[in-house]
Amino acid sequence: MGGIIPAHVGIIMDGNGRWAQKRGLVRTQGHLEGLKTAKKIVKAASDLGIKYLTLYAFSTENWKRASDEVGFIMDLVKQYLRAEFDFSKKNKIRTRFAGDFQGLPSDIQKEISVSIRDTADFEGMQVVLAINYGGRDEIIRAFRKYAAETTDEINEKVFHKYLDNPDIPDPDLIIRSAGEYRTSNFLLWESAYSEFYISDKLWPDWEKGDLENAVADFQKRDRRYGGIK
Ligand code: IPE
Ligand code: IPE
Ligand code: MG
Repeated sequence: MGGIIPAHVGIIMDGNGRWAQKRGLVRTQGHLEGLKTAKKIVKAASDLGIKYLTLYAFSTENWKRASDEVGFIMDLVKQYLRAEFDFSKKNKIRTRFAGDFQGLPSDIQKEISVSIRDTADFEGMQVVLAINYGGRDEIIRAFRKYAAETTDEINEKVFHKYLDNPDIPDPDLIIRSAGEYRTSNFLLWESAYSEFYISDKLWPDWEKGDLENAVADFQKRDRRYGGIK
């Protein structure tokens, strides 16, 4: 597609549970389907020329859910990282991470570290997996690192260096599937001037065309950043 392609797109992949419920299936079935969609959308985003794609896979609040659902999601993350290495290699996709890494089970930590290491030289799209991620938590962790490391006077530029991925530009576009009008603690600092696109479609139903519609909508926005044109 033509026009300006957003450099960084964040996706709040919501609606897996409702998708399953509608079909009389267990919630975990929705997560399995949601993973297939995530793979499809990663490919579509890479084909569109998006440089950074942040996928909100598990929030710091999602631990409130039943332990079998949480365990299932963690296993899916592992599976995804293992099974997708060939795909990542072929498409030069680099894995990144955002969130409270130390708070993850050690087997997941290991799998993520391996994927980050093995894809570190790939120069195509960077996929940031936001797992055990909360925007408030990221800000607090950043503040702790700042306080431990320096007595430089704090300002936005200094503080920014302590966020999870300071080298990645702020998201241009944040997409949320499944019709909820809230951020649910996603990229609070980074989304100050992001454009938001909310679709009623449940995440497992998303196709390449839905991503293209979101980008087309983004292309019509007038980004003023508080200024006047
Ligand atoms: C999003 O789908 C995936 C995660 C939060 C892990 P949900 O599981 O939140 O699905 P709904 O919102 O209950 O439909
Ligand atoms: C947001 O979805 C988190 C992810 C998609 C990972 P939730 O389903 O957790 O958000 P709420 O509870 O509807 O706000
Ligand atoms: Mg939800």
